[in-house]
Amino acid sequence: MSTSDAPTPRRVRVHHLQAAKERGERLTMLTAYDAVTARIFDDAGVDMLLVGDSIGNTMHGYRTTLPVTLDEIVVAARAVAGAARRAFVVADLPFGTYEAGPEQALASGVRVMKETGVSAVKLEGGQRSVPQIRALTQAGIPVVAHLGYTPQSENALGGPRVQGRGHAAEQISEDALAVTEAGAVAIVLEMVPAPVAARVTEVVRVPTIGIGAGAQCDGQVLVWVDMAGMGDWSPRFAKRFGEVGAALSSAAKDYVDEVRSGTFPESSHTFDA
Ligand code: KIV
Repeated sequence: MSTSDAPTPRRVRVHHLQAAKERGERLTMLTAYDAVTARIFDDAGVDMLLVGDSIGNTMHGYRTTLPVTLDEIVVAARAVAGAARRAFVVADLPFGTYEAGPEQALASGVRVMKETGVSAVKLEGGQRSVPQIRALTQAGIPVVAHLGYTPQSENALGGPRVQGRGHAAEQISEDALAVTEAGAVAIVLEMVPAPVAARVTEVVRVPTIGIGAGAQCDGQVLVWVDMAGMGDWSPRFAKRFGEVGAALSSAAKDYVDEVRSGTFPESSHTFDA
């Protein structure tokens, strides 16, 4: 039986995230930007799929996430939400679609929810994003917060650097408590020292999902191209669980060779008159 004929699995919902934390079960999250990879990851049992604004630098060839538009997220999120049968799907609010205040955040969040079928939105920032998180939550839109290294602020932060070392550790805990109080249902912690992430995980009631934040978070997230080994390079915190880029390259080279040599298509790929 193909996976698509399998009985529909029970959908991961917002209360399951909280229950997983309470039971000490680690949550898994990967980015996905299209229906093909979303279905593969969903069938593999990934709990949460993130339509991240990392679509900009991984798929669209942008240098950073900053140029990503809400239109680009909406198209990708609709594909991912349509393909995932079990995973809790989260769409990023890209740079420029929520910073102006709660009204802008609400307009962006409502559009994403109406047009895509995702279960939650994610936005970056701690105390500065509290009014936005509160407005979205009060409108019934679950919000995942994102603290530590926040790529949309890469120009202010001086590039991808560990956040929360020394005195800055306390700020991360305060931000985590503030976004939780405002209604966030989970918190992504990116490039935060492991002891700081462990402390945040202890003090907040919602799950923390780490990326470069150590093993004590309630879950882990990776950008799928880093996880699967699509490019020559992956960040230090991202283990390459496969060499899919090399496998794809090899398949493409075999295709080119067989077409050129006339060995593909064979009779089994050909229709009779
Ligand atoms: O956009 C993204 O992929 C993210 C992850 C790095 C968490 O925000």
